[in-house]
Amino acid sequence: MEQFQYQQGSLACEGVALSEIAATYGTPVYVYSERSIRERFEALEQAYASVPHLVCYAMKANDNLSIVRLLAGLGAGADIVSGGELFRARRAGVPADRIVFAGVGKSRAEIAQAIDEDVLLLNVESMDELDAISEVARQKGRVARVAARVNPDVDPHTHPYISTGLRKNKFGVPADRVIEVYRRARDDQYLHPLGIQMHIGSQLVHVQPIADAVERLVELVHRLRVEGVDLHYVDVGGGLGIRYRDEEPEGPTDLAAKILPAIRELGVTLLCEPGRYIVGASGALLTRVLYRKENGAKKFVVVDAAMNDLIRPSLYDAYHEIRSVRQCDGEEIVDVVGPICESGDFFAHDRLLPGVQPGDLLAIMSAGAYGFAMASNYNARPRPAEVMVSGTQHRLIRRRETYQDLLRAEEGL
Ligand code: LLP
Repeated sequence: MEQFQYQQGSLACEGVALSEIAATYGTPVYVYSERSIRERFEALEQAYASVPHLVCYAMKANDNLSIVRLLAGLGAGADIVSGGELFRARRAGVPADRIVFAGVGKSRAEIAQAIDEDVLLLNVESMDELDAISEVARQKGRVARVAARVNPDVDPHTHPYISTGLRKNKFGVPADRVIEVYRRARDDQYLHPLGIQMHIGSQLVHVQPIADAVERLVELVHRLRVEGVDLHYVDVGGGLGIRYRDEEPEGPTDLAAKILPAIRELGVTLLCEPGRYIVGASGALLTRVLYRKENGAKKFVVVDAAMNDLIRPSLYDAYHEIRSVRQCDGEEIVDVVGPICESGDFFAHDRLLPGVQPGDLLAIMSAGAYGFAMASNYNARPRPAEVMVSGTQHRLIRRRETYQDLLRAEEGL
């Protein structure tokens, strides 16, 4: 259910008016619906309920501790891509045996950290990396559980920057080299090959490419059994899309219908790594209109959020719906832009909006995933606050950064 709805002419998140959030915490501010996060997670749980499974939340989408803690409490694990994410996952209470570690370039320090913490699986992307994991495990006298990330060479039909499962992408071990990697792991006393993983891309509107890739993984699991490698985990990655504009994305039930029969027959535990699906539509970026201006025929609405707060429009030309918090009359075509000194600093070009005025609030929708997580301090702008709404309650889950925060890593230097 959509948790951002108009109530008496004013946009609200669950039972809290966004105008109240802005008045309490200032703008720009990220606002999340706890109910939406719960519902989306539960939808995944239900879809996969008929097989042993673990939903490993892809923390890169939004690693706020309160959000990760909420999901951990619901039974989620974590999909991490760095030592920093491992640190945050453990801080948020995710048990190590529910953490899978992905990434094409893990450093030896990160591998050591993962082995010390004893994470469930290290997803390996190359023979070189497997050697590094073996070496670190040997030094520690420990056995590392590993999975190969397979590059299944399947086209996910998504934006090229977030497409990862084609041969030309840097990710994964090509399907024809996978057996070699497992033989190497099988014959190494410091490695325990226990899983197989893939992730072909993000914001997929159709699940068939994922199902096609899973089919390749299933074949590999059968072939590996003949080789004496008995895998217990099949990890199908993340990638389920959400609606930003007018997409009608297929969801976890559609994917489950296609892949669960094979997973059940293999007798393995299903792992998945959704990020955007859980938090994307559960969050919005709330910003205030500063000025209106016109350059010839072009109209601009200048807001107090900028590309440093939400970079997706600038980086991927991504579409985010923009709603006026106050339901108002009039229609006009405008560009919605931020205060940063480059033309790439925009949230929408030639967008039809109601006639908003300085002081009005706008909500940039579906900003819960890869929003705050990709925010920066560009132009020495403190990063925004984050607020969690639950029913009629709201609470700060990250305070707005201060000027002092901007100096912290340089203090005394
Ligand atoms: N697993 C792996 C190995 C990944 O690389 C990713 C995302 C995920 C899971 C989670 O994918 P999701 O379920 O969220 O689609 N910044 C971009 C998205 C980058 C995704 C990178 N990998 C954006 O704003 O669209």
